[in-house]
Amino acid sequence: MPGMHVTLRQLQVFEAVARLGSFSRAAEEIHVTQPAVSKQIRQLQEEVGMPLLEQVGRQVCLTDAGRELLATCSDWLDTWNRFEQSIADLKGLKQGRLRIAVVTTAKYFMPRVLGPFCTEYPGIDVTLEVINRNRLLERLGHNEDDLYVMGVPPDGWEIESQPLMENNLVVIAPRAHRLAGRRRIPFAQLADEIFIAREEGSGTRMTVERVFAENGVHFRVRMELGSNEAIKQAVAGGLGLGVLSQNTLGDLAVEGLAVLDVTGFPVRRSWYVVWPRGKQLSVVAETFVDFLHEHAALLKPRA
Ligand code: PGA
Repeated sequence: MPGMHVTLRQLQVFEAVARLGSFSRAAEEIHVTQPAVSKQIRQLQEEVGMPLLEQVGRQVCLTDAGRELLATCSDWLDTWNRFEQSIADLKGLKQGRLRIAVVTTAKYFMPRVLGPFCTEYPGIDVTLEVINRNRLLERLGHNEDDLYVMGVPPDGWEIESQPLMENNLVVIAPRAHRLAGRRRIPFAQLADEIFIAREEGSGTRMTVERVFAENGVHFRVRMELGSNEAIKQAVAGGLGLGVLSQNTLGDLAVEGLAVLDVTGFPVRRSWYVVWPRGKQLSVVAETFVDFLHEHAALLKPRA
């Protein structure tokens, strides 16, 4: 009918009263007071211009007009409910995609968080890019992902970053190395050692170079490797020493490695979850950030 001003709320209330046959039960179901239900129905009847409900004893019955309206609005409400569902899905809570890019070293703990996360939110598809810091910064600059996890958030960028847990750097040597087991090795003694280093553009490499420079020690590199795992193997094989995040270490005895007690180490730092400042995080991304903070225990390094 032209000119009729009926609200979605009135239809929802009417449908509940008609289905449940009771004002009080409808009020309970939709979490409002009974006078609020009566008011909505009264306004709806005024708009339609005919009574929709009749009170017979304690039972609420539909009039003919009421039956017509119920048939019509059940369809509308179904359609509306489907719409609400697809909006919720688009927002991603129950369904959707989460794009995360993490630096190489984060692969030691991210999969351990993703397991429980995907179990709790089975409708969320996660894409995980594992790349080094430089490549990650390119992606961050182009806003290609929802979230980033890295050890060294860039200075002077418009970003939000929240610390997650420790990401300390340690010096590793083969188990039989002459310095293994020595206490308080002076930093300067590292000048005599040669290192298997991560590639340029890696956050680990960047931090190691900074720390060596701060200590006035030349960082001598025998070989560059893009994989922490390969560095551990090379170090265990006696090619040189390494400086890696504690997160990369498992059972040192099994790996044939020792952590050296060098002054200034471990270099204390954190992992950060990062996103561009001002970016409207999707519901999925927000859920994941909360999950990361809540499940920090899962992220603890094993070594
Ligand atoms: P990377 O980053 O894997 O690129 O070295 C790790 C870190 O910054 O701790």
